[in-house]
Amino acid sequence: MRTPRFEPTPAWEHALSQPDCSCHLLLVALSGERIVGWCRLFPTSEEEAELGIGLLASARGQGLGAQMLVQAIAWAQERGLSRLVLTTRSDNHQAMKLFSEYGFRPTGWGEDEWIEMALELPSSKQGAGCEPSLCYLFHSTFSR
Ligand SMILES: CC(C)(COP(=O)(O)OP(=O)(O)OC[C@H]1O[C@@H](n2cnc3c(N)ncnc32)[C@H](O)[C@@H]1OP(=O)(O)O)[C@@H](O)C(=O)NCCC(=O)NCCS
Repeated sequence: MRTPRFEPTPAWEHALSQPDCSCHLLLVALSGERIVGWCRLFPTSEEEAELGIGLLASARGQGLGAQMLVQAIAWAQERGLSRLVLTTRSDNHQAMKLFSEYGFRPTGWGEDEWIEMALELPSSKQGAGCEPSLCYLFHSTFSR
């Protein structure tokens, strides 16, 4: 995956080249059998993962983003991760509100209003090592 703005990070390369590795999470929001949104966590180290989330425009503003974020944070905590990081635009008010509400705080600035945010997670007993394949699907009750 490559766009003018996006170059795959090592975490993306890992997830795309090893889709069966349970170190990364992909949640999918469904409307019937149609995928209307996704949320992923890709590991950047033993303790940290990078979060991405997106919904079709027609599926936004109805709580699905919040539900997927809650699931992703819970998964990260269960795996013993200590930190989630993400990048978004500071003028993306919907995203900024969502991430702030769930504890993400600004940690730095990139070019063109891009802001880096992080969520520190409480310590957990479990480690974040690789395990057999695991797939999480998130079913929503979204209807148009
Ligand atoms: C950002 C995104 C994932 C949020 O998901 P969502 O399902 O639309 O958000 P939710 O419905 O769960 O709402 C989360 C909060 O944002 C608020 N919100 C909803 N629409 C909003 C808007 N247009 N402006 C500001 N806040 C808004 C909600 O009120 C809610 O706050 P509340 O819990 O206090 O009511 C989704 O809008 C999206 O996919 N946007 C495009 C892709 C993107 O920006 N991804 C993230 C950046 S990397």
